[in-house]
Amino acid sequence: MRMFGKAGKVAAITAIAALALTACGRSESGSSGNASGAAGFAKDALIGVALPQKTSENWVLAEKLFNDGLTGAGFKADVQFANGGVSEQQNQISSMVTKGAKVIVVGAIDGSQLGTQLKQAHDNGAIVIAYDRLVKNTDAVDYYVAYDNFKVGELQGQALLDGMKSKKASGPYNVELFAGSPDDANAKVFFDGAMSVLKPKIDDGTLKVVSGQKSFEQAVTQGWKAENAQKRMDTILAGSYGSAALDGVLSPNDTLARAILTSVKAAGKPTPVVTGQDSEVESVKSIMAGQQYSTINKDTRKLVEHALEMVKGLQAGNKPEINDDKSYNNGVKVVPAFLLPPVIVTKENVKTAYEGDPVLGPITK
Ligand code: BGC
Repeated sequence: MRMFGKAGKVAAITAIAALALTACGRSESGSSGNASGAAGFAKDALIGVALPQKTSENWVLAEKLFNDGLTGAGFKADVQFANGGVSEQQNQISSMVTKGAKVIVVGAIDGSQLGTQLKQAHDNGAIVIAYDRLVKNTDAVDYYVAYDNFKVGELQGQALLDGMKSKKASGPYNVELFAGSPDDANAKVFFDGAMSVLKPKIDDGTLKVVSGQKSFEQAVTQGWKAENAQKRMDTILAGSYGSAALDGVLSPNDTLARAILTSVKAAGKPTPVVTGQDSEVESVKSIMAGQQYSTINKDTRKLVEHALEMVKGLQAGNKPEINDDKSYNNGVKVVPAFLLPPVIVTKENVKTAYEGDPVLGPITK
């Protein structure tokens, strides 16, 4: 893929070759009984894009990019948000199928609640691409395009350690752990990625989770809602900290990071190291001002661009390029994926990280 230069291309070709080798025993790699890419379809076909709730800026931007990109390429676009929740998203997907969508791109609210609608899509010959979030427990999903979610978590875990070390040379450090919404398949993957870095440090005593809430189930933030994270942080600070210092907080994204910082400030404590994700404008400003410690750059433009490349390729009858055929088992099948590399951003590289970004570029100059 152009975006990755030569090394990426080689990796992608290797992955495709590996997929071809492991395909025996499965019906057809990347396909589950429908025409995933084999035949192509009309150049002005309807393409459905089912987006979740507006829980972070990336989704809002994706809506515009999908609308512009699809119509610019000559397709008819049906791009929908489901702010009303899961049943609204189910209805939207059904309606896309009824209207004859040839590809349905899905950013699921609840990755395990779309089996019926996606089967309906497959039965009608539509190709299903999971976008950013995996859809689970169904074979009616053909491809997955996302940033490498486990890597996002690893980068967050490492940033938390680095940030605390830069303030205080050695531990033990008092920390708290936050995860995203449990219905979003990404939330556990982010958390697992972070814990692959943090757990050894918890086990050896470098990190102390003062609240004792170390499991994913205890750390989750329903609906990715800022107020839920803020409330949980308030409760933990009031119940477990007293006059003790809070050195760091693992936050899975920027919206929650800012809510956590608000809570800590209200409790009168010094600013801890708080991680994030999404490069939201307010958080990038906060990083520049020395408040939030880090975010992750997952350029939505690149992700939508890649999803659009997939759609255009499918239209022409080509199989989309994938570069990962092992990481995303959705409970029923391993979904062939194209993963983009996330980038950690702290105050140190914030000035160079967003070069060329029309919104963040000028802010960080
Ligand atoms: C996305 C994150 C986002 C979160 C909340 C996740 O699935 O990958 O970028 O912060 O949803 O909207």
